Amino acid sequence: KSCIAAAMSALVLLSTPTQAAEGDPIVIKFAHVVADDTPKGKGALLFKKLVEERLAGKVKVEVYPNSSLVGDADELQALLDNEVQLLAPSLSKFDKYTKKLQVFDLPFLFDDAEAVKRFQNRDMSRELLRSMADHGIYGLAYWSNGLKQLSATRALQKPEDAAGLSFRIQASTVLDAQFKAVNATPVRLPFAEAYKALQSGMVQGTENPWSNIVSQNMHTVQPFITESNHGVLNYMLITNSRFWISIPFAVRSQLEGIIDEVTQAVNKEAEALNQRDRERIIAAGTSKLIALTPEERQAWRDRMMPVWKSFEGEIGADVIRAAQTVNR
Ligand code: LMR
Repeated sequence: KSCIAAAMSALVLLSTPTQAAEGDPIVIKFAHVVADDTPKGKGALLFKKLVEERLAGKVKVEVYPNSSLVGDADELQALLDNEVQLLAPSLSKFDKYTKKLQVFDLPFLFDDAEAVKRFQNRDMSRELLRSMADHGIYGLAYWSNGLKQLSATRALQKPEDAAGLSFRIQASTVLDAQFKAVNATPVRLPFAEAYKALQSGMVQGTENPWSNIVSQNMHTVQPFITESNHGVLNYMLITNSRFWISIPFAVRSQLEGIIDEVTQAVNKEAEALNQRDRERIIAAGTSKLIALTPEERQAWRDRMMPVWKSFEGEIGADVIRAAQTVNR
């Protein structure tokens, strides 16, 4: 082998991380932390089904739900190491790679789930899909879950009711500040540990969309759920840039077409799934649902809003402004 040929094959090896022998299907491991019967879980399975139908023999998808392959503490590193090829972490989990996505965590920023969807379709959000390019993370799409509700062992009607309680949060500095703003203690824990922490009393409360509460049985250990809709928990479907560009163009285009289709299905169904799960909680009778009057909601808002100012520098005032324009 000449020097040039050796160098070329080294380059090819570097840029095609997972392709084994020619003719073998490309394997896409899609790992996530939630159950199958959730917006993200269903999206992952639909992606697998459509790829099996349309790219049989060329691409093989393996879905690993419930943190069964990697959990949220190490999934991004696993993606960068090309141990998994697709993830859809919550937008709260990218702190280490970009500060801009923290905009999605700002409390009371979006009026409702439709407003978030509008923002996800705006130019600013399309740009944010590229905000982690320097780290080799390539954003493919936004997937919806839903608005978060506060839950606890105590009725949370006023912000003062949260004082002194510990809340499980995702690893996000904005969410940390949000709970500190109501004199509560935020505790960062991987999703896989949330139920146990609530059940054992290590923490007394948390925040989740209805689908995550039900699929983790959290309602069985949270006697009170406040319908606060105070923030959003949506996802970014991401891949490893080097892996993605190593896929032959024609196959990659087909995969991107499938992703568009799945994204539309997920985003169309997420709200209905969350409403179904809200009904399931009511039917289970384990938790009292607490409605907030407009004045009570305003009181939570007033307490949590200062968080916006403290993160404006990191996120960018332009990003926050762009997000605000989607409210009607
Ligand atoms: C959480 O950790 O609460 C969520 O990010 C889990 C998820 O993926 O919905």
